[in-house]
Amino acid sequence: MPKWDYRKDIDYDAIDVERIKENDFLFTMLTIASFIEITSETYAMNLAEYYRDNPEAVAWLTTTWEKEEVQHGKALRAFVEHVWPEFPWERAYERFLQLYLPMCNLEALQPSQALEMVARMIVETGTSTLYRALESYATDLGEPQLAKLCHFIYRDEVNHYSYFDRYYKIYNEKEHRGRKAVLSVIVQRLKEADGEDIKMGFQAIYETRHDRKFDPEAFEAFHKQVGDMAKKYYPYSMAIKMMLHPLRMHKAVEATVTPVVRGALKVLGV
Ligand SMILES: [Fe+2]
Ligand SMILES: [Fe+2]
Repeated sequence: MPKWDYRKDIDYDAIDVERIKENDFLFTMLTIASFIEITSETYAMNLAEYYRDNPEAVAWLTTTWEKEEVQHGKALRAFVEHVWPEFPWERAYERFLQLYLPMCNLEALQPSQALEMVARMIVETGTSTLYRALESYATDLGEPQLAKLCHFIYRDEVNHYSYFDRYYKIYNEKEHRGRKAVLSVIVQRLKEADGEDIKMGFQAIYETRHDRKFDPEAFEAFHKQVGDMAKKYYPYSMAIKMMLHPLRMHKAVEATVTPVVRGALKVLGV
């Protein structure tokens, strides 16, 4: 069960709506995040099927992980609807599902159970660090309820990472995947980091709001804003540490590799 409840722990009425209402970047970020998080149900089903040989993992995926991810989505949706009630969230979400569901299937999983756990760790690295950055951003905006919400989500995401790490260890004791295979999953996931799901979220919002075809230039402008926000708030060191962890490198090697990865992340715009 989730460790917190957004209906009790977040005071939506305390939000200073006027302070943030004009912040279109914030609106877009939170709405895209709400779409992706709320759709975790579909992904949890795929994962539970993939790990059906492991009842403990299936139980955790379906009773904790899925519930927590979906709560992230609901809590973000409630925030968006509180600050931007004129936005037809439901209609935009339907459009998002039309775009997103066809690519969310079992074939999208890694070829082995250990390697899929690595992929999940990279995804959780992405979400942990994103909400960490959003928490700092919200604090600077002077929006404590949003900072609190992002902090709760951040803590859950770090916890998810630890679970996937534990299962990765268990599966890799059987599979013995080497660093090369693990690294290739990390690189592949990083390439997807400014991914299709975010673009689809943006497209769904754009089409719903403007009632016209998606404009890739508008997405480019948003992408640039994400980059500007990342420069100021993204916890790069934390991201690199979490990303490199499944490689189980010696500390000295990790210290050498870290600046290289940091450079690569910036080139990728992560
Ligand atoms: Fe989440
Ligand atoms: Fe998560």
